[in-house]
Formats: sequence, structure tokens, C-alpha cells
Amino acid sequence: MTSKVDLLELDRRYLWHPYTQMKDFEKENPLFVDRADGVFLFDAQGRRYYDTISSWWCILHGHNHPRIKSAIRDQLERLEHVHFASTTHEGAIRLAEKLAVLTPERLSRIFYSDNGSTACEVAIKMSLQYWKHMGETQREGFVSIERGYHGDTIGAMSLGGVPKFKSPFDALTFDSYRIPSPYCYRCLYGKRPPGQSPNHQITKSPNCSLDCLGPLEKLLADKGNEIAGIILEPLIQAAGGMIVYPVEYLKRLAELVSHYRVHLILDEVATGFGRTGRMFALEHAGISPDFLCLSKGLTAGYMPMAATITTDDVYNAFYADYKKGRTFFHGHTFTGNPLASAAALASLEIFEQENVLNGLQDKISALQSGIKKFGELPWVGDVRGIGMVAALELVMDRKTRTAFPTEKRVGWTIYKEGLNKGLILRPLGDIVYFFLPLSVTVDQIEDILDRSFEVISGFKL
Ligand SMILES: Cc1ncc(COP(=O)(O)O)c(C=O)c1O
Repeated sequence: MTSKVDLLELDRRYLWHPYTQMKDFEKENPLFVDRADGVFLFDAQGRRYYDTISSWWCILHGHNHPRIKSAIRDQLERLEHVHFASTTHEGAIRLAEKLAVLTPERLSRIFYSDNGSTACEVAIKMSLQYWKHMGETQREGFVSIERGYHGDTIGAMSLGGVPKFKSPFDALTFDSYRIPSPYCYRCLYGKRPPGQSPNHQITKSPNCSLDCLGPLEKLLADKGNEIAGIILEPLIQAAGGMIVYPVEYLKRLAELVSHYRVHLILDEVATGFGRTGRMFALEHAGISPDFLCLSKGLTAGYMPMAATITTDDVYNAFYADYKKGRTFFHGHTFTGNPLASAAALASLEIFEQENVLNGLQDKISALQSGIKKFGELPWVGDVRGIGMVAALELVMDRKTRTAFPTEKRVGWTIYKEGLNKGLILRPLGDIVYFFLPLSVTVDQIEDILDRSFEVISGFKL
């Protein structure tokens, strides 16, 4: 058998990892994951690590879940894959019905693809083509939000607002109307004066009048009928820094865009499936979009799959005799894959039968109250969270909110120290966060927070 050392040698020889500077990867031994169970990953020596980021925000019911594994196994005996253009199969149909029931009433049509980026690409392409079919051909613009993230394919990236991920490709991307991020900790309108204690709200503070929506109001008043849609992540701008923002912002934004008949595209790739304490984040605001993009937790993290869910209104604009040229020419090889459909159905059954959402309340309280104590630490500028997600923004100076110089790689140092304490604390820059599997227990949450407190309180520049 090839030893771990030899395998790492082969990795260095042949592989290129995502979002990874390979020079670092070569120098520092990566975590070699051998197996996983529940909320833990195990390395080749059998050491255990809490998967505090749900393996990139996917895992819901824990690793190695017997019911999901057996659903995939059973499906494998029947049908592993078939193209989805002129065929159909039971799993994809049953899953579509379930998704239509779970999501707001207006959302009735499910278009499958295979990852979060494509879920968003599909929504923007459908939106644009819809307006062509409706004779409003001037509606070609999209609105996006600073610090938003919708994936790494060209279209999704064009609407992303994290410069580091996007700027090398500026020559390839299209422009969108960009509005400010509702980043309360660094409020552009001075509603969070320096020195104010860490944030812990998902409702807006009393002195906030949602000034950051002013540019959208103006844009819509000037150009509302040239805009096809707006895309955003409801309540948490995840990759942009786990920025948790007030529910009032989301409600007001939805009202504004509806007034101008601009499509509301909600990207719930990260927030969907219980992560914010509700099945979908949109439920906190009681809103219903024109497009809902789902992936990651759709299969509880077991298989790649995505869904873009839209309304009858959008669907009907494409429904016509073939010669009218209204077909939606878009698809991926693994669209509606049967194994992924089986995993997704099993996950939704677990939600129902194990009453997962009701069981979250104690866990959410443990996380959201436990995280507050980090606000006392000298490097912690902001503490924010919602549901099973919480984040700490580490800064060099709490009073002025000055960030650490990038080259200090503070988040990275904390990640490495976390590994010594049995934690995967993979940060976003200097933002350390927890994106916990829904199956984590209250005791495990307390243990994760205690270990993390030791790591962060022990940090020295
Ligand atoms: C909100 C959001 N949208 C889209 C994506 C892209 O998903 P994928 O990496 O599966 O393409 C991500 C990934 O992190 C995400 O968080």
C-alpha cells in the first residue's frame, strides 16, 4: 500500500488545489483527511478535528450518515446517471415536487445543474432571456452588491464583489450596477461609530435608516426599466466575510425591486437548508424571489447538485412552439443526476423525520450566546452571527477598526493553531468563522467554542 508520505509526494507532483497558494501547500503539510464521521474529520494518524465549516458549508446531518449513504447505494443499484434533456427519472421528479412545496408558493419550476456557480448562471441567463421574450429588450443590466459572492464561473464572478477573487479576470467579466454592502461593522454612513461594542443583531440598530439602500433607490428611479435583475445572498454575505446584515435591509430591498419589476435573484447556495435557523434565509424576511439558487446543502454535502427555482411567470415566457425560438439552451452533463437526487431526497427526509429545524433552537442559543465572550478579546473587532453561523472579525486596533496588514496572515496563523487543538478554523482573510453542521450537539458547540477561545486568546502578533 502506498504510504501517506508517498501519497503527499504524488499530490505535490500532480495536483493543484483550489483557493490555495501551492507554494504554501508544499511547505506546510496539508491536513490529510482519511475518513469522517458525524462532525469530525480524522487524519491518517486517527487524530480528530471538528469540521466547524461543514466542509465548505455543505454538510448538514454530519458525515457518514447511514440513511444518506444507503439512499445513494440503493440508487446506484438502479440507475447511476442519465442525461436529462429528453429523459426523466423518479428521483429528479420527487425532489422537484419536494422543493416546490418547501419554497415560497410562487416558486414552482425547478431547473437542475451541478454547483452553486451554475445555479446562479442559470438564474441570470433565464432572467435576461425572459425580458427578451417579454419584449422589454432594454432590460439587460444586473445589480450586484459589494462583497457579494456567487461563484467562480465568468457570469457568476462578474456579479461578485470580492475584488481579490475577480480582478485578475476583469478583461473577461461584464459590468453590473454595484451597490454598497450592508456591512454594519464598517458602516459607510457612520451609523456604527468607532469604539462601539461588537455587533450581535440581525435586526437593525435604532439609529440605522438603511442609508446603504440609497444608491439602489436612486439607480432604480433613474434606470429601473433597464435592469433585468438583482442578485444577492440573503442575510449573510458569506465568502465576502460572513457579513450578517439586518432583515429590514432584505425586506426593503425586495419591496424596492418589486416596485420596478426587477427580478429578485436570491442566492441561497450557502444559507439554504437550515443554516440560518429557518429552512431558507428568505423566510426571516417573509419575501419571495423570482429566482432561488440552491446547492451545497441540497444534498447535505454528499453529491454535487444545484437547483434554480423560478416562477410560472418566468417558465411561461419560454413555453412556446419550437419555431418561436424560446427554448432555454442551457444544460450540464450531470443535470439532475440520479445519485445526487437520491442524496437530496434522503436529506429532506431526515429534516422531516428527525424534526431537524425544531431541534436547532438550543444549538443556536449555545452558539450565539457562547460567541459573545470572544468580544472581550483584544483582537476581536466584531462578533456577528445568525443561526448556525457565527464570525469574529479580527483587527489590529479595535478602536479604529484597522485591519491587520495582509502579509501578517493572522487568519492563517489561527487556522494552523486551530489544527493543533483539533479544529478546522479555515478563515476568510482575518475573519474566523463557524459554519456548523446542523447535527452538532450543544456539548460539541461548547467544546468548539472553548477550544477556539484558547486559540484566539493565545494569539500574539
Ligand atoms: C452564496 C454562494 N453562491 C455561490 C457559490 C458557488 O458555489 P460553487 O462553489 O458550488 O460553485 C458559493 C460558494 O461558496 C456561495 O457561497
